[in-house]
Amino acid sequence: MAHASAGTPLSALASGPLTGRIRVPGDKSISHRSLMFGAVTVGETRIEGLLEAEDVLGTAAAMRALGATVTRDGEGLWRVSGLGVGGLLEPESVLDFGNAGTGSRLTMGLVGGHAVAATFVGDASLSRRPMGRVLDPLRRMGVEVIARKGDRLPLTLRGPDTVIPIEYRVPVPSAQVKSAVLLCGLNSPGVTTVIEPIATRDHTERMLVGFGAALEVTAGPAGERVIRLQGRPSLKPQAITVPGDPSSAAFAIVAGLIVPGSDVTVENVLLNPLRTGLFTTLLEMGADLTIENERVTGGERIGDVHVRSSRLKGVAVPPERAPSMIDEYPILSVAAAFAEGDTFMDGLEELRVKESDRLSAVAHGLAANGVPVEEGETSLKVIGGTRRIGGGTVPTHLDHRIAMSFLVMGLAGQAPVTVDDTATIATSFPSFLGLMTGLGARFEAPQSAD
Ligand code: S3P
Repeated sequence: MAHASAGTPLSALASGPLTGRIRVPGDKSISHRSLMFGAVTVGETRIEGLLEAEDVLGTAAAMRALGATVTRDGEGLWRVSGLGVGGLLEPESVLDFGNAGTGSRLTMGLVGGHAVAATFVGDASLSRRPMGRVLDPLRRMGVEVIARKGDRLPLTLRGPDTVIPIEYRVPVPSAQVKSAVLLCGLNSPGVTTVIEPIATRDHTERMLVGFGAALEVTAGPAGERVIRLQGRPSLKPQAITVPGDPSSAAFAIVAGLIVPGSDVTVENVLLNPLRTGLFTTLLEMGADLTIENERVTGGERIGDVHVRSSRLKGVAVPPERAPSMIDEYPILSVAAAFAEGDTFMDGLEELRVKESDRLSAVAHGLAANGVPVEEGETSLKVIGGTRRIGGGTVPTHLDHRIAMSFLVMGLAGQAPVTVDDTATIATSFPSFLGLMTGLGARFEAPQSAD
């Protein structure tokens, strides 16, 4: 899963109207969880629409290494036969999660709940990211950790014989931290409580209930979410249909808004309210965005997102919206570059610890393409109204979303936008270039400088 260090650069060119209907691959968060929950369920869980991208394939390999039987029957069609809660086996070699924060952190919770030892490794990006946020509560639950200084990968975990049920108030808004604690608590003899002052994506809670766990969510005195999970449930195999990933749909949606004359529909998009902050913000910016064919499948709201190119205006994005659009700030910043007026985003501290320091990567990418921007410690201000956007090369720092966001920017720019590496796009959205090209997007190998 290593990426070529030289990188595969690509330029995006000003394109004619983007038109058509597409489907993006399955949601990454739900895909990871489907494999993991299937691995601790006796019987066969069937998954349709699984995201077949490097991050999720890494989780599939890890579940196999932990003893589950994971079978691919066709495109997006997978089966997992699991071992039951507490039944995972000690892996014989290291678990390589490549670029995947979610895959690695959630599996740490799962493995921490078992009296086995496992070593976690990842690529250069993942090895820079903080793991203490997950390891701290796991240590309290009795998990032994041997990690590099600063709690970075590579690291080794060994779960206790009996997991200590804890009450944990999540100090940063992170669905990964919440989920790791709950997954470890699955194999504790008592009730694990996670208190979330700010709500983050709730796929773990919804799916565990779907698999038959006794999990309840109540409101605390200050409105915080209090999640209680009874340990050692007997989970029941599920048939899961994974909806389209709104975080992948975001790229085609913003492209449709900023490339003049476009009319684009992304079908079958997950519309869980804890994931739709970008759509709310785009509507506030004046986007011609409608949700069609809305329906509920597998307990989740799903719909087709239809956009037509729009004159966008800058807005102030409320900081409390951040968790519901945490992966969408890079592409929102691209939309903001084409808006009239300034867009101010705050409460972005978590962006500093994503696949790259996204605040800095976005600010540099915008500036390199002529868009004035002000980077604060936890904020970003994008100055709209630039008349000539493009002409720059963007370092992507092993970050798929930086690569895709700036390629979208080039489609509506006045000069090409080049990204230094497209290899990481395969971690979450391998069909990105093909789908975008089908809508009319133009990409080419960069003209060499000499
Ligand atoms: C995810 C949680 C978020 C998000 C990531 C997926 C998940 O990370 O950025 O892409 O599936 O739980 P944090 O928990 O670090 O905010």
